[in-house]
Amino acid sequence: MKIAVLPGDGIGTEIVAEAVKVLKVLDLKFEMETADVGGVAYDHHGHPLPEATLKLAKEADAVLFGAVGDWKYDKLERQFRPEQAILGLRKNLGLFANFRPAICYEQLTHASSLKPELVSGLDILIIRELTGDIYFGQPRGRRTAPDGPHAGAEEAFDTMRYTRPEIERIAHVAFQAARKRSRKVTSVDKANVLETFQFWKDVVTEVSQQYPDVKLDHMYVDNAAMQLVKSPKSFDVVVTGNMFGDILSDEAAMLTGSIGMLPSGSMNASSQGLYEPSHGSAPDIAGKGIANPLATILSAAMMLRYSLNQPAAADRIESAVKDVLSQGLRTADIHSEGTRKVGTREMGDAVVAAITKKTITKS
Ligand code: IPM
Ligand code: MG
Repeated sequence: MKIAVLPGDGIGTEIVAEAVKVLKVLDLKFEMETADVGGVAYDHHGHPLPEATLKLAKEADAVLFGAVGDWKYDKLERQFRPEQAILGLRKNLGLFANFRPAICYEQLTHASSLKPELVSGLDILIIRELTGDIYFGQPRGRRTAPDGPHAGAEEAFDTMRYTRPEIERIAHVAFQAARKRSRKVTSVDKANVLETFQFWKDVVTEVSQQYPDVKLDHMYVDNAAMQLVKSPKSFDVVVTGNMFGDILSDEAAMLTGSIGMLPSGSMNASSQGLYEPSHGSAPDIAGKGIANPLATILSAAMMLRYSLNQPAAADRIESAVKDVLSQGLRTADIHSEGTRKVGTREMGDAVVAAITKKTITKS
């Protein structure tokens, strides 16, 4: 098994280092190789996704990714911006299925911006289509408006589009995931306005006939945004397009107290995957040693479960994370009175200790 380790920018290097530390104590045989990605890759090699990095990612069974981006690259031409690295990896590896769980850990119920009773026990799985939609649709660009009330004016445009196979495959992923949970899928669309999402709704409904044991409902995206803060526990699996999924997954993350806790995994048809925290590179706190490494550590657990076929090792990491939370250890983002504030490295060390302690007790 080979893991490509791409730490990226900002807090990426700090948090990935902790996840790597955790992976190393599991006594599993895999090779890890690190490469530059994002802004740091642009600085070193003139491109956010250098050929060598892409090659490494393609050859690996899984990619462990940190985060990319920094304000200092905002003025670069779009193709050279750090974000292009993650979009390029998604597209080139065909990572169409993005899993973003939003789980509210019992110990963190009070860190949520919602009332504890609304989020206690929350466990939602957002499945976001990741290689289509307005993110990648062509044509796009700037031009002179050819028609409309402002014909002749400068305009910019993007194209929202989905093909039937793209919708079918993500729908299958969602229904199959629901079978392992409480057999309920909410498909989020904007069928009342957009042709693309009327088609989405029709195709998801068709695919659902193959899963009579799973309950499907449909919700408009604006209503879904509202229901997520009104009664988040009414959701189980949510399946949606690339752009709506981007927005709703950040919203759902916040319900759990901190985006610093949430892992994510993006898979292709052959279970090759890229695993990254749901949060970004947080340049404002980079280098300070205070970032929460748990989302990345939990992403490594998802990687073991979904791409490397090591569910027992994944369980060990996840239960170690619960242990350290029960011990009262908290990074700044989830810290509250009565708990102990720790830095990035100390949190990683505590997870390692929780794993090794359990191994010793067991043997
Ligand atoms: C995410 C991020 C990315 C996205 C950016 C960094 C391109 O917001 O993974 O949610 O929009 O998909
Ligand atoms: Mg996002």
